Amino acid sequence: MTKTINEITITEAATDQMSGTPDPRLRKIMASLVRHLHEFAREVDLTADEWLEGIKFLTAVGQKCTAHRQEFILLSDTLGMSALINALHDKRAVGAATKSSLLGPFYRHDAPMMKLGDSIISKSPGTEVCFYGQVIDSNGKGIPNALVQVWEPDETGNYDLQKHDPSEMDLRGCFKCDAEGRYYFRGLCPTGYMIPMDGPVGDMIRAQKRHGYRPAHIHFVIGAPGYRELVTALYVAGDAHIDSDTVFGVSDSLVISVNKNDAKSPIAKMPTIHYDFQLAADKAWTSGRVGADPSQITSKIGA
Ligand code: BEZ
Ligand code: FE
Repeated sequence: MTKTINEITITEAATDQMSGTPDPRLRKIMASLVRHLHEFAREVDLTADEWLEGIKFLTAVGQKCTAHRQEFILLSDTLGMSALINALHDKRAVGAATKSSLLGPFYRHDAPMMKLGDSIISKSPGTEVCFYGQVIDSNGKGIPNALVQVWEPDETGNYDLQKHDPSEMDLRGCFKCDAEGRYYFRGLCPTGYMIPMDGPVGDMIRAQKRHGYRPAHIHFVIGAPGYRELVTALYVAGDAHIDSDTVFGVSDSLVISVNKNDAKSPIAKMPTIHYDFQLAADKAWTSGRVGADPSQITSKIGA
């Protein structure tokens, strides 16, 4: 017998039709997504005009994506979804580990390999800082040869990917730690900036009267065989936006201060930022990347 479809029965009708999905995880995710989407529409009593506005907005988000720009990830970031996925990832860790933070849209998989003590600054003037510390396991033991990838914006708040020629690299590099897991390198004192506001996500942020800023920070991806990859960032204490990051990346334990007089600095007379990163063991060597190098995404979908 034909069932009556109304604003309530439509949910079961849709999930029933998907119930033969062979992959159990896909089945569960899609059924839950449909239930929550339908519940959202019922809760706000969504009109056809509002639904179409939503479709137009998501279309514009997709159209803004290029090999150097991922507007969908920016949308996830500004809705707090990326920070939520990070928090769920951290909860699954076995053993103590540094908290994750957003990968963001400016990571590149092909940053140059450098030697400990090198500077990641190739073009951008500014105040130099020595970043140093140790990569340790859940028991506090150094992880030999851990790979530390870093990237940061220049003093105007722009990453190399946002410059005139985005293929030119600046303010990013990869470092292999020493036998005790120690790392050190030179970079710019971190700067805060506004997230890219020239697309539909920027329109959304303005419509919500949000400021659009991220507090000063530097990004890290740290990995070693046998450990979960750590995707995180360090945030500078005292920044005006430290408590109102537009993408919700700040946690207390990731807030650092610049030390202008550090007797332990590996580079004499240079201000320092000191931080030890802790990785949780993981045989499967999983990654917590919430974000991606945009070119890696577009190449997979043939753009
Ligand atoms: C970033 O820190 O690079 C970033 C993260 C999310 C959105 C925009 C920028
Ligand atoms: Fe950033």
